[in-house]
Amino acid sequence: MKKRNLVIANWKMNPGSLEEAKKIFNTARDSAKKFKNIEVGICPPFVYLALLLKLQHPKNLFFGAQNLASEIGRAFTGEVSAEMIKNIGAEFVVIGHSERRAMGEDNEIISQKLKIAFDSELKPILCIGELERSKEGEHLAFLKKQIKECLSDLPKKYLIGITIAYEPIWSIGKSYKEAMTPTDIHETVLFIKKIITDLFGREIADSVRIIYGGSVEAENAAEIMEYGAVDGLLVGHASLTDQFPNILKNMDLKR
Ligand code: PGA
Repeated sequence: MKKRNLVIANWKMNPGSLEEAKKIFNTARDSAKKFKNIEVGICPPFVYLALLLKLQHPKNLFFGAQNLASEIGRAFTGEVSAEMIKNIGAEFVVIGHSERRAMGEDNEIISQKLKIAFDSELKPILCIGELERSKEGEHLAFLKKQIKECLSDLPKKYLIGITIAYEPIWSIGKSYKEAMTPTDIHETVLFIKKIITDLFGREIADSVRIIYGGSVEAENAAEIMEYGAVDGLLVGHASLTDQFPNILKNMDLKR
C-alpha cells in the first residue's frame, strides 16, 4: 500500500508573537484543506502548541512538538515531558534535529527520547544527516552510525512505520538552489533503506517512511518528491511564508 505523502512544518523558534503564529497556522490549515491526500504536520514552539491545537483544523492536519525531555518523572526545570505533549493532543514529536544535536544531544540521548516518545504513544520523527559530504563516502558511515545508535536499543515493534527525516546539515536554511539534488537524495534514501534492512530486516525497512529536509521551497518540492523517492518533506523557513501552500500544491502534482 502506498504511504500517504507527509509534510512537516518545523517552525523552529518562530514567530515572535501568538498573533503571527495564528496567521501562519491559518495559511497551513487552508492549504491542508485543499490537499486532503497529504498529511500536514505542524510543529510550532511549545508556547503556541496548546493554543493552536484548540483551533479548528481538518483531519489531515496534526500537531507535533519540536523536542521532548529525555527524562520522565523528575525535577527537570525548563523541560517539557512526553506526557504533557500527548495530553494536550499533539500526535508526534521531532527528535534529534541537527540544531538540537549542535546543542549537545548525542545518539544515546536521542535513542532515550525515541523510547520515551513511543512509550507515550507519540509518533517520533527521527532526524539524521551529515555535516558534510566526502568523496570517500565518510558521510555514509556517519549516517549508518546515527541510525544504528539511535534505533538499535528500541524494541522492534516500535520500528515498524517509523519516520526518518534525512536532513543533510550543509543544506539546511538556504535557498532551493543550494538544496541537495533529487538524484543525490534518491541515492541516500536507498542507502538508508539498505542500512535499515541490514540492521532490522526487510519488513521494517519497507514500512519506514523517509522524508527529506534542507532548503525545501516551492521551487524544488515537486522534483524532490518525484526524483528523490521520498515519502515527504520537512520544511523549515518556507513553512512560515506564503510559499507553504505552493509546496503542498507542487507535492500534490507528483503523487
Ligand atoms: P530549512 O530547515 O527548510 O529552513 O532548510 C529545515 C530544517 O532544519 O528542519
